[in-house]
Amino acid sequence: MAQNLIFTNDVESAIQRLTASGDHNLTVWIADVNTARLLPAPPQHLITIPDGDENKTLATVTHVWDEMERMGASRHSLAINLGGGMVTDLGGWAAATFKRGVRFINVPTTLLGAVDAAVGGKTGINYNGLKNEIGAFAPASDVIISTRFFDTLPIEEMKSGFAEVIKHAMLSDRAEVMRLLDHDFSAPIHHDDLLERLKHSVSVKTDIVARDPEEKGERKALNLGHTVGHAMESLAMQRGKPVPHGYAVAWGLVTEATLSHMRLGFPSEDVHKLGNFVRDNYRDFPFTCDDYEDLLDLMRHDKKSRNGEITCTLLSAIGDYRIDQAVSADDVTAALDILRDHLGL
Ligand code: GLY
Repeated sequence: MAQNLIFTNDVESAIQRLTASGDHNLTVWIADVNTARLLPAPPQHLITIPDGDENKTLATVTHVWDEMERMGASRHSLAINLGGGMVTDLGGWAAATFKRGVRFINVPTTLLGAVDAAVGGKTGINYNGLKNEIGAFAPASDVIISTRFFDTLPIEEMKSGFAEVIKHAMLSDRAEVMRLLDHDFSAPIHHDDLLERLKHSVSVKTDIVARDPEEKGERKALNLGHTVGHAMESLAMQRGKPVPHGYAVAWGLVTEATLSHMRLGFPSEDVHKLGNFVRDNYRDFPFTCDDYEDLLDLMRHDKKSRNGEITCTLLSAIGDYRIDQAVSADDVTAALDILRDHLGL
C-alpha cells in the first residue's frame, strides 16, 4: 500500500506541490461545516458535509457523489479531504467508489486523524447502527500530516488522539512511551516537537500496515486497547452518553496492559506508569462493576472475536506484541477492577 506521507506545517505549499502536476481535470475539496472554515478562501469546488459521527452515513456519501456529478468530476479528478477521521473515512470511500475510483489526498485536522484514521487505507461509513460497517481498503495517494490545526482543538480531542499515539509507542519503543507519559496537556503545543512525535507514531502504523495491509494478521496489533476500549465506547453510546474514542482506548490500554501482565508477564511497573497517566488525564470513567456483564457481552460480540471468545492483542513487553490472545471473562473482570483502582474509583 503505497502512500506518500508528508510531515509539514506548511500545508498550503504541500498542497500546491501535490496539485501542480495538472494530471487531473478538476480538484474537489471535501470538508465538514467546521473544517471548511479552515480554508483561507473557498475553493471553486467545495463539498461541505455535516459534522459528527452520526452523519457518517450513506446519505452523506450520496450527497458527496451527487455534488461530484454536478461539478463535472471524472475519474481523472482529484479529491482533497480536509477534516478529522469522519471526513477522511467518508470522503475517502466516496472518492474511491466514484466512477470506480478517484485519486484522493487526506489532510487530517485532528490528532486522532493524523496518527490513525487518515493513514493506512481504511475508509468507510457507519451502517445499521454499526461503526465502520461498510467500506473498503482504499489508501489516499498522499497524506499531509501537520500539527498546525491543533491549537484550536478542544483539549478533549487532543487527549483522544494522544491515546492512539501512546498505543503506537507501546507497540514499538519503551523510551518513546516514557517520553509520552511525561506529556503535560496544559502546556502550549510545541509544534516542532509534536510533529516529531507524530512521525514516530505514524511510522509504527505504516510499518505494520506495509506488512499486512488488509488486516489478515499482524495489523490486528493496532487493535491494542481496542477490544476493551470499543466495548466501553459502544456501551457509553448505547446509554446516550458517548465518550471520546481515545478515552475508551486509554481505559482499554490500561485494562489490556493488566491482562498482558497476568498472561504474559508484562512488567507491572509499566502498567502502573500507564495507569497513573490515565488517572491524571482520562479520569471521568463512567462505569461501575454493575456494568461488567454488559461490557463482557460486547467484547464477546466484537467484530474481531471468534466463537464468542474474547480476544485481544497483548504484550509481553513494550514492543513485543501477540495478536489473537484469548482471555477469560474472569481475567477481564479482574483487570477491570484493577483499572478502577488505578483511576481511584
Ligand atoms: N485503526 C487501526 C487500523 O487502521 O488498523
